[in-house]
Amino acid sequence: MCGIVGYIGKRDVAPLLLEGLQRLEYRGYDSAGVVVSSPKSGGLKMVKAKGRVRDLEARVPKRFTGTTGIAHTRWATHGAPSDENAHPHMDADGKVAIVHNGIIDNASDLRAKLTAEGVEFLSETDTEVLTHLIARNDADTLEEKVRQSLKQIEGTYGVAVMHADFNDRIVVARNGSPVVLGIGEKEMFVASDVAALVSHTRQVVTLDDGEMATIKADDFRTYTTSGTRTTAEPTTVEWEAESYDMGGHDTYMHKEISEQPDAVDRVLRGRIDDRFSTVHLGGLNLDAREARTIRRIKILGCGTSYHAGLIGAGLIESLARIPADAEPASEFRYRNPVVDPDTLYIAVSQSGETYDVLAAVQELKRKGARVLGVVNVVGSAIAREADGGVYVHAGPEVCVVSTKCFTNTVVAFALLALHLGRIRDLSVSDGKRIIEGLRKLPEQISEILETEGDIKKLAEQYAEAKSMMFIGRVRGYPVALEASLKLKEISYIHAEAYPASELKHGPLALIEPALPTVAIVPDDDLLEKNRAALEEIKARSGRILAVAHQEQEKADHTVLVPKNEPELDPILMGIPLQLLAYHTALSLGRDIDKPRNLAKSVTVE
Ligand code: F6R
Repeated sequence: MCGIVGYIGKRDVAPLLLEGLQRLEYRGYDSAGVVVSSPKSGGLKMVKAKGRVRDLEARVPKRFTGTTGIAHTRWATHGAPSDENAHPHMDADGKVAIVHNGIIDNASDLRAKLTAEGVEFLSETDTEVLTHLIARNDADTLEEKVRQSLKQIEGTYGVAVMHADFNDRIVVARNGSPVVLGIGEKEMFVASDVAALVSHTRQVVTLDDGEMATIKADDFRTYTTSGTRTTAEPTTVEWEAESYDMGGHDTYMHKEISEQPDAVDRVLRGRIDDRFSTVHLGGLNLDAREARTIRRIKILGCGTSYHAGLIGAGLIESLARIPADAEPASEFRYRNPVVDPDTLYIAVSQSGETYDVLAAVQELKRKGARVLGVVNVVGSAIAREADGGVYVHAGPEVCVVSTKCFTNTVVAFALLALHLGRIRDLSVSDGKRIIEGLRKLPEQISEILETEGDIKKLAEQYAEAKSMMFIGRVRGYPVALEASLKLKEISYIHAEAYPASELKHGPLALIEPALPTVAIVPDDDLLEKNRAALEEIKARSGRILAVAHQEQEKADHTVLVPKNEPELDPILMGIPLQLLAYHTALSLGRDIDKPRNLAKSVTVE
């Protein structure tokens, strides 16, 4: 999705902004642009380019100097990717420049009104209307011009504004799209993502929805869109600049898959309480008495996080015996859900900024529900909006497709399920059993990662398939869903996921030698049922790749994974399938870290 970076201070701004844009490249974009203000005249100079940040860099002239500037990577929504539609947008007099993330819903009405007043538009974007509103506003201060203009727009924004007549400041505002201020020594940064800031400062202030800020080189202040001052305490970002580097791997995806033993170790660290065979989750804000009154749990997330939520629901049902289910947040928010006071809602999101999830949380809060967050990015919008929650501590995830965050989110759910279970009816011995299982995970994940060479060979064999089927039963079904999503996202091979039990109700018609099936076959009480599904596929000459605890006779190939507790097995079964998707995509020559049409964090509808 779009990215914003801005700077005001003493340093030459263009190289700083270009570096910031490079750090935001992972979010996905199709054009980029930069504006700097000349230190002497205050005049604004702009360069934009369709394509990559390096295309923009190639266009930046030698004398593009200044100490204040804003820059942007754009993901096309209104208008195709082009030089004209790239941000920043400026008014005809070259006084105002803005960069904007989000969508202005009433842009066409405002465009018609402004056109009737004689304004000439240079782009097809929704953002340009805001530029003209600010430029035409006759308030005395930049803050007031921006504030009054924002009042006229409907929609979402993270926005940064420069004005040639007020060149000692940048004014920023947030409504539904992240804006983070970075505080340096006599310099200030702004960005839509801490990734663009951490190589310069780790002291940040995250704006809330409805909040604005004025940043100057040595000072900043925050206030609401109605003008009331707010207090903003800077916090320290945990993540180091190096966590965003590739660290010797060829792709971020490979790096992030490999990091999983350490990442899982982190989500467990400091949380296990052996004395009571439970875990401590400091940020939950839910005491034991309240936890006992929960009658249902509803988990909401999108994509991979939704799949993690499905596994989470299974963990909660089996360990805490609370009825639980998961639903895509994007669907939930549009079906006027019945919000029940005895239901605990849990929003799951790696980025903590996914608009569909945030909107579902806001709708739930409006209806008086209690909402917890299971989130990776500390201080993100969903984390702040929730009443409490569990951070998944996976570290930054740069690859567009999620791997380590998925695994850590599921582990976080296991912790939550254990915590709730031990408050309710889970026995001490079962608590101990799960804790032992959790402690084994990092080592068992390392064991699986060591089999990468074998999985690579298998992936090369299966890469020629036009389509693939993934099946699993009960706990194995969300694993199949996630593995199928991973494969299609990065290899572009069509894939379907079905509960193994549903095969005979329809999808069996598809089975033939050209359609390989990946089957999740744990050694649990459903083993014989799963084997029966393999028989059915084999009888129709289907090729089978089983992910299992023991060799499967009916399968053409079996990838063996170490056994843990049955409740935790889905965590391990997912890992070789991440590698399968990775090596399939690699052998097909795909751009693994930036799959086509996808963005890292979907902050628009
Ligand atoms: C797939 C993937 C997406 C995200 C989804 C939600 O690999 O990463 O499906 O899981 O867009 O994102 P978050 O978790 O940031 O809310």
